[in-house]
Amino acid sequence: MSLVSHIEDLDLKDQRVFIRADLNVPIKDGKVADDYRILNALPTIRYALDQGAKIILASHLGRPEKPDARWSLAPVADTLSEILDVDVFFADELLSDVPLVISPSLKKNQLILLENLRFHPGEKLNDVDFAKELAKNVDVYVNDAFGVCHRKHASLSALPECVSKKCIGFLIQKEMEMLDRVRSNPIRPLTVVLGGAKVKDKFNVVLNLIDHIDHLVVGGAMAYVFLKAQGHNLGNTKVDLEDLSLAQELIERMQMRKKKLYLPLDHMVVPDIHRVDLLTNTPSAHVPDSWCAVDIGPQTCEYFSKAFETAKTIFWNGPMGLFEIPDYATGTRTIAENIGQCLSAFRVVGGGDSARAIFHFSLEKGFDHVSTGGGASLAYIQGSELPGLQSLESHKRSEAVV
Ligand code: 3PG
Repeated sequence: MSLVSHIEDLDLKDQRVFIRADLNVPIKDGKVADDYRILNALPTIRYALDQGAKIILASHLGRPEKPDARWSLAPVADTLSEILDVDVFFADELLSDVPLVISPSLKKNQLILLENLRFHPGEKLNDVDFAKELAKNVDVYVNDAFGVCHRKHASLSALPECVSKKCIGFLIQKEMEMLDRVRSNPIRPLTVVLGGAKVKDKFNVVLNLIDHIDHLVVGGAMAYVFLKAQGHNLGNTKVDLEDLSLAQELIERMQMRKKKLYLPLDHMVVPDIHRVDLLTNTPSAHVPDSWCAVDIGPQTCEYFSKAFETAKTIFWNGPMGLFEIPDYATGTRTIAENIGQCLSAFRVVGGGDSARAIFHFSLEKGFDHVSTGGGASLAYIQGSELPGLQSLESHKRSEAVV
């Protein structure tokens, strides 16, 4: 049985409810460019409003080291206000007395949004003093920020430790229910598909998942490291040489365990990413000198689809190439279409870029779940304890002992 309370277990009426959401969305020209994560935060916010809570909403945005207007949550306040049809009071100073002064008089169609939590150095340091300052205006703490639950940051770890009434929201509940079908006793074969950036993090994931998965399909930046380790020429494609020995080790471990590793057989290449007009398909996994790979090629798409045909559970994180440039998006789109056609498999896609790609291609119906978490969903399915969930358990544990 879960040791974590759910928002419906607690009385929110007239309580100052701190909702930690993941509103880390792309901002373009001062406006929200993709509202997927905002839409996913709405059920919890709406529920708390309906219950008569005084909401103090908080999130991070990007990875700023200090206050920086480029990473302000102000555009998110505008979008939230429009979508929810509520007044959003934006507290542009994190530790101002806005919550103290305004929260008691908040009406049912009003809430407070704090500025980017990462503008304060205490957030990433999980600083207890920063958490205590935030906790001064909190009666109930709700974590609904699934995408960042793998980070031991103050708003996710030290803050809930300071609050006795705490719980998860509807988004985290849904994410856990869906991802549990990949994490615990998945219907086999389980095929994991990895691509995209944050390569080092993903190598560690594979190390931890190696005994859990049946087939591993790798495209995008991570695949180039594996191919380099196998002796392929990658031309000017960016490859982090630091990861080569780890890639070699993983190849050997997969072989020893007789697990199938699918790597690209061909690429789409250009001499420079701006020369879309020169986009060419290579006949093999080698990239010619002075050219760089920007997408997987058609042979690879066909080869990868074989790993999907037999799969009963498919988890995908990370695009296959530079899909933001339409000419380099074919591989990512084809993989999304092919997974979408595997009707007998349980299909999950996770991560900001992958989710963005799926919605961009309008292929979300081909998936049973589109997770808001990239690193968090990978950490969850590999069985790691997520600090953002652990901090909610401790209270119930101590209650149970008493
Ligand atoms: C994400 O975009 O995956 C989450 O919001 C977490 O962001 P982070 O990787 O900067 O902690």
